[in-house]
Formats: sequence, structure tokens, C-alpha cells
Amino acid sequence: AQPTLKSAYKDYFPIGVAVAPRNLTGPEAELIIKQFSSVTPENAMKMGPIHPEENRYFWQDADAIVDFAQKNGLKVRGHTLCWHNQTPRWFFTDASGNQVSREVLLARLKQHITDVMSRYKGKIYAWDVVNEAVPDGGESIYRPSKFYEIIGEDYIEKAFEYAHAVDPEAKLFYNDYNTENTAKRDKIFQIVKKLKDKKVPIHGVGLQGHWSIDEPTSQELEASIEKFASLGLDVQVTELDLSVYPKEHERRAKKETDDGILTEDMVKKQTAQYKMLFDTFRKHKGTLTGVTFWNVSDRSSWLDNFPVPGRKDYPLLFDQNYQPKEAFWQVVKF
Ligand code: G3I
Repeated sequence: AQPTLKSAYKDYFPIGVAVAPRNLTGPEAELIIKQFSSVTPENAMKMGPIHPEENRYFWQDADAIVDFAQKNGLKVRGHTLCWHNQTPRWFFTDASGNQVSREVLLARLKQHITDVMSRYKGKIYAWDVVNEAVPDGGESIYRPSKFYEIIGEDYIEKAFEYAHAVDPEAKLFYNDYNTENTAKRDKIFQIVKKLKDKKVPIHGVGLQGHWSIDEPTSQELEASIEKFASLGLDVQVTELDLSVYPKEHERRAKKETDDGILTEDMVKKQTAQYKMLFDTFRKHKGTLTGVTFWNVSDRSSWLDNFPVPGRKDYPLLFDQNYQPKEAFWQVVKF
């Protein structure tokens, strides 16, 4: 039989995929069941989608994903309990529209984490507790989010403590992108080291892995894995995709000029980059405890609209007809 992602990596780590309810029927569902051993809800468990009003939760989408996972023997990574993005305005304001106090926001954060985690207790093995708390540039360690501004830097440790109290078995992660940028990586390291020193229940760091055909190098990736592992933390790649548009190009060009046409050169570079990444992941067996792709196939990816609205991207291992690309074979045959 031909190898699949989950068969090839069964002795290494679960291979996951970000899913929306629309992926749970038809050819995508078949692909998910055949190839992957874990799922992450792409949007369904975020604060906005799941908790649109203070006294109202919308469980339907998240329930559907967890049920699908249970039925098909897939693990679930929960994403995400505290993020500055996709968070409803009500969270930060009172009935008259004024900003709430630190105490009120902490109470809301605790209630939210408790309600969401309790519902899926025992069915979700790992949670992205705090997502993207560090800014990309500048001097500041902490992103100036509402959580930071209203509560202060300890919103992070509070979130982990609330989460651990609900489900002591769940592995709790801090999750972020651009983790191969040394300045940002150092800031994340400072934060998680402080949490570890204070005995806050944090178990891992998620490297999102929104990478490209020219980034990162294996050295940069290994530096991230080893740096966080040195604190005794698990490392997972939580949102892997490789844009076919070079990051370096986008930084220099500022204005994107590509037209969304896939060239042979892009395919060749992407294939080589995927092979290099998985060669590196396998070297860190035991430390690297999960790799999750962000979306199922090139038919539809969040990158189709980012950073250039409407520009098609081709970032995954399966093509627009759900067929394995050459990069897939390079990843499963080793
Ligand atoms: O569901 C609504 C729909 O009701 C509405 O009519 C429509 C109009 O815009 O929007 C729909 O919501 C969109 C949602 O995706 C579901 O498709 C949002 O506009 C859109 O902003 C949202 O994008 C998501 C993005 O996070 C939000 O920041 C992407 O799907 C999702 O892939 C992306 O995932 C993030 C991770 O959570 C964290 N790391 C980065 C990663 C990529 O940005």
C-alpha cells in the first residue's frame, strides 16, 4: 500500500489539519480521514465564533468537528482560548459601552475558558491557550492588545492557570508566528521562561509555521525548536503552510505584482522546502510532538486572500483536485 501522512509518521508525531465544518463531508472528509491523525478547528473555537454574546455560546460548528474527530479516531487540538483577533467587542465593554475593569475582564476570561474547555474535556488533548501575544517589531515584548491593556502582562499566566484548573490532562500551549525572527523568538522565550520560572502550567510552544518557499532555513527552524525545548517544553508546528510567493520578495517589493500563476520554479522550490522541513522535524522526534497543516488542500486556503486579496496561493501537500503533489511524496518517503 502507498504510504499516507499518518502511516509514514506514526512513530514520530500526529499529523494534523485545520478544518471547517464544510470540510467534513465529501472528498475532503475522505482525505482527512485517510491522511491525518489530528484536527484543529480553523475558526470554530475562537472567542468570536463560539461566544458571540456574553450569555450565548454557538457550539454547533465546534461540536461537529469534535464529533467527526471522535467518530474517526482523530485527535483534536483546541484553538484558541485567548487571542486579540476574532474576539467580540462585548468582551471588553459593559452595557453602557465603557471599557470594563481588570477584575471584570479576568472574570470573563475565566468563565469563557471554563465553559469552552469543560464542554470538550477529555476530547481535546492540546490547547492553544494564548495566541500571538508578541508583536512583530518594536521594543515592546507584549502586543498592546485589549487583554494586555486592561489586565496587564499577567493575563497570560491567568489564562494558563484557568485552563489547567479545568482540564489538568490537557497540554497547554503558547502559539505564535514569525518564530524564526530572532528578535521575536527572544521575546517569546522571555515570556515562556518567566512562566516556567513561576511554575505556571504551560507545556509547549506552538510554532505556527506560516512559512514560504524561501523561509525558514533548517538552521533557523532548529534554533527555534532547540531554544524552546531547552525549557523542557514540547514544540509543535501548529499551522503549517508554504506560500509559493517568496517572503523576501514580498518584503522588498511591498507592492505585490505576482498574478497567482504557479510556475515550475515555485513548485520545485516548494517541494525542496517541504522535504527539508520534514527531514528536520524527524530529527527532533520526542521534542517535536505534532505537525498540523493549516487547511486541507490547495483548493482553498486562507492564503488565497492574504496578503493580497483574491490572489491564489498553492501552499499545501494536496492540489486543487485533492491529489498528492510531488512535495507529498518527498514528505512520506524517507
Ligand atoms: O464566517 C464569516 C461569515 O459569516 C462572513 O459573512 C464572512 C465575511 O467576511 O466572514 C466569515 O468569517 C471569516 C472567517 O475567516 C471564516 O471564513 C472572517 O472574515 C475571516 O477573517 C476569517 O479568517 C480567518 C483568520 O484566521 C482570522 O484572523 C482564517 O479563516 C483562519 O485561517 C485564520 O487563522 C489564523 C489562526 O487562527 C492564527 N494564526 C494565523 C492564522 C492565519 O491568519
